[in-house]
Amino acid sequence: MAIKWTPDLSVGVDHIDEQHQVWFEKANELFEAGKQQRAKEYINQMIDFLDEYTKYHFSDEEKYMAEIGYPELDAQKKAHASFINDLAKLKKDYNEGGGNLLVIINANKMIINWLTNHIKTMDKKIGEYAKNL
Ligand SMILES: [Fe+2]
Repeated sequence: MAIKWTPDLSVGVDHIDEQHQVWFEKANELFEAGKQQRAKEYINQMIDFLDEYTKYHFSDEEKYMAEIGYPELDAQKKAHASFINDLAKLKKDYNEGGGNLLVIINANKMIINWLTNHIKTMDKKIGEYAKNL
């Protein structure tokens, strides 16, 4: 199962959409590496990379929300912070489970579901708000 960004996930703000697309690519690469049972070090590097990119994306999105005076910035910040915690937990579980493939597969579902829901419910509202400025 490939994980793809689809146009129905468009928020309507170009740079956010682009970052979401990159994010899906990175999550997909991690999933594929898990399926192919790549070396633990390699998968760890990919988790780190996804983690870094996620942090970069969230901080950029938060900066944009602040710039346009978006009223639900705090709720977004909380959601972002909790997801960053989930990613840290994924890495810990993966390592403590001895690099268990199932951890990656379950985590992948969690990650994709989270981001998809977050984009559909919270991020789309940013675009709606920006459109009416
Ligand atoms: Fe967000």
